Amino acid sequence: MSIQTDKIRELVERRATAKLGGGEKRIEAQHQKGKLTARERLALLLDEGSFEEFDQFVQHRCTNFDMDKSHIDGDGVVTGQGTIDGRLVYVFAQDFTVNGGSLSKTMSEKICKVMDMATRNGAPCIGLNDSGGARIQEGIDALAGYGEIFERNILASGVVPQISGIFGPCAGGAVYSPALTDFTVMVKDTSYMFLTGPAVVKQVTGEEVSQEELGGADVHSSKSGVAHFAAADDKEGIAMIKELLSYLPQNNMQSAPVRPTADPAGRADDALNDIIPDNPNKAYDMYGVIGSIVDEGKFFEVHKNYAKNIIVGFAHMNGQSVGVVANQPNVLAGVLDINASRKAARFVRFCDAFNIPLVTLVDVPGFLCGTQQEYGAIITNGAKLLYAYGEATVPKVTVTLRKSYGGAHIVMSCKQLRGDVNYAWPTASIAVMGAEGAVDVLFKDAGEEREKKIDEYNDLFSNPYRAAEKGYIEDVIEPRNTRFRVIRALETLKGKRQDVPAKKHDNLPL
Ligand code: HXC
Repeated sequence: MSIQTDKIRELVERRATAKLGGGEKRIEAQHQKGKLTARERLALLLDEGSFEEFDQFVQHRCTNFDMDKSHIDGDGVVTGQGTIDGRLVYVFAQDFTVNGGSLSKTMSEKICKVMDMATRNGAPCIGLNDSGGARIQEGIDALAGYGEIFERNILASGVVPQISGIFGPCAGGAVYSPALTDFTVMVKDTSYMFLTGPAVVKQVTGEEVSQEELGGADVHSSKSGVAHFAAADDKEGIAMIKELLSYLPQNNMQSAPVRPTADPAGRADDALNDIIPDNPNKAYDMYGVIGSIVDEGKFFEVHKNYAKNIIVGFAHMNGQSVGVVANQPNVLAGVLDINASRKAARFVRFCDAFNIPLVTLVDVPGFLCGTQQEYGAIITNGAKLLYAYGEATVPKVTVTLRKSYGGAHIVMSCKQLRGDVNYAWPTASIAVMGAEGAVDVLFKDAGEEREKKIDEYNDLFSNPYRAAEKGYIEDVIEPRNTRFRVIRALETLKGKRQDVPAKKHDNLPL
């Protein structure tokens, strides 16, 4: 056999060993927990045959605690490039079978390399996390590695989409890399994120709590909002990441791909003419409106279980990717509170950073009042959404369906926040406040006259025409034509150019 053949065999064997990571037993243990391995996840994520691995032979350099006696090629993370639906992405997937996927300095160098490539070459970066945190044997070197990753998350923010899958443990400072990325997908029962685990919590506060209750997928996707999506298993989590990417451009200099549609742009929907209840205090389901106006009724919702009083997510309109923001009258009457404001603000800013036009559907009675909201800084948090809409330069089309009152009217992409095309349905009521509240302020002693005054106020303000007469909205439209009107507005806005004054960076009310 020639020397060359020997050398090729060595390469093939080394590759095969590297691919086994921590070995068959640990792979089996991973499967026993209902989890896939790092390589299995990447195989599901990427187009078949598209993965090119980098740094497969990288080894850690730690000598503490006999670590120099154990080396596994690749050192606990699989990194490289591939395609999803034919579009380039950079990926890293931590391999829990190698030292619990813990982060060594060399692992961080591998991750930083693909993050740098993603940023430089203008392609999304997807990280699949499954790790016991900093590699304890390495001490401060592992911490330095995290710092280097975080810095890249920050520099890549707004340049390329960054998506985190949490497919196992993610604890301590390690949580901050996903927190810095644009979207986080967690898997129910097998993943968790927290700064300190249940044992330490019990020691410090006396509180007894399970891992799932403290930082599981359900908790983070419904209570904290840390996770945008909660998947039933690894497979579903990966499918969510792929679907999400289909709405996004490769980077901040490009537009999202157009998805051809058989749904006619001019399709009218008579049902919309009847969707608003006669009683202004009665709820209806905003999902019905969204489903009616977007292509094929297909809506990819973000933060579905968090702050349900506002709905955000992606859809296509005549093939063009759009970000939809809509108040949900079915939950808390669609009121804006702290969580809803934060949720929508982050979404609006993402869309603006990545050239995705915004379609806003308004039915908002105002901001939620009370000490809980005031003490939690609804002022600052509401200002986040106001700020996000006000600074956004992507095309903004707004349709007011029913209520649009007071400060919440301004916040929800009104004309004065550089709304491009603002429409209202004939059922809209654009005013400083609702009739009853207004009469109780203006006519405290109205007594039997109260109802009459309410009627008077309603006649004057509970309609879209006061706003239309002043040019604060472009037009009053028939609900059935909403899809067509929004699509036509979006078409006209394709060449939109708008700048913000030069500055180092803004000072968003955090
Ligand atoms: C080195 C680690 C490790 C770590 C796990 N392992 N975490 N090795 N550093 N951080 C190793 C284990 O020793 C074990 O090796 C293998 O990975 C699998 O771990 P198990 O404990 O057997 O798995 P499991 O029972 O599933 O428990 C998973 C776990 C637990 C809950 C993650 O391993 C754990 O609590 N690890 C420590 C978590 C932690 O405290 N990390 C540091 C946080 S501080 P063998 O050889 O036995 O199979 C931090 C700071 C970051 O991360 C700051 C950034 C700014």
